[in-house]
Amino acid sequence: MLVPMKEILVEAKKGKYGVGAFNVYNLETIDVMFSVFDETNSPGILLAGGPDIAHVAAIVKSYTEKYRHIPVALILDHGRDYESAVRAVRAGFSAVMFDGSALPYEENVRITKEVTRLAHTVGISAEAELGHVGQGATDAKEDRKKFFTRPEEAARFVEETGVDALAVAIGTAHGLYKTGSPELDLELLQKLVDAVDIPLVLHGGSDTPLEQIQAAVKIGIQKINIGTDVRMAYLKGLKEAIAENPDAIDPRVFLKKAKAYMKAEAIKKIDAFGSRDRI
Ligand code: 13P
Repeated sequence: MLVPMKEILVEAKKGKYGVGAFNVYNLETIDVMFSVFDETNSPGILLAGGPDIAHVAAIVKSYTEKYRHIPVALILDHGRDYESAVRAVRAGFSAVMFDGSALPYEENVRITKEVTRLAHTVGISAEAELGHVGQGATDAKEDRKKFFTRPEEAARFVEETGVDALAVAIGTAHGLYKTGSPELDLELLQKLVDAVDIPLVLHGGSDTPLEQIQAAVKIGIQKINIGTDVRMAYLKGLKEAIAENPDAIDPRVFLKKAKAYMKAEAIKKIDAFGSRDRI
């Protein structure tokens, strides 16, 4: 069943576990994720963005009708403006993220507030980002600290916007890390948890040691975004299958292995974050 993301995250906060939020792109990746949620008996969150969101939402809708027993949220990932949020609402998403993390504070507040009002008007959830989670391929570990989320500002931001979940910058970055494993600032996370009482989100969860994410979940992260790791698993399976079956012409021959690899990677994350058997 498609549910507002807040419902899933409030339960996770109560139960002190993390929920993986996985990027999906097409029928195959959505199919994999529903089989993962079903097999692990886990609530789930799906992330989507870009020009295909209406298509993705239509596929997710048909799966949520089939798997009625699984609470699943579909969130617009890194929406850049109010108009993107409107398009996601129209497509049937159950949450929207507005990412104003590169904007001046006041501008981030202003648009987050508008997007949150829109989301709440139609009964869905809103996520925002304060501080800035950059790219692992380009950011040096030390530079990342400049953009860490500040607890007092986070408290003010949540109060001023009414947003349902907040993405915080505590040391992760999107994609693979060029400068080695990240080191999450868990002391800062504790201060953020003390400063705000809404669920907190960790973007850039790939290529991050699972023990670090588990420590963050224990302190108070409820949603962990995973894109690169499941995408790489899918592509590894696809490449292997193509190499192993040079003469095959039925795409399903290749997709089987791609899906199996992605599934195994996603299950590994779900077990590490602790959402298995939480339905
Ligand atoms: P990764 O690709 O690093 O897992 O980041 C995904 C993400 O944060 C999507 O919003």
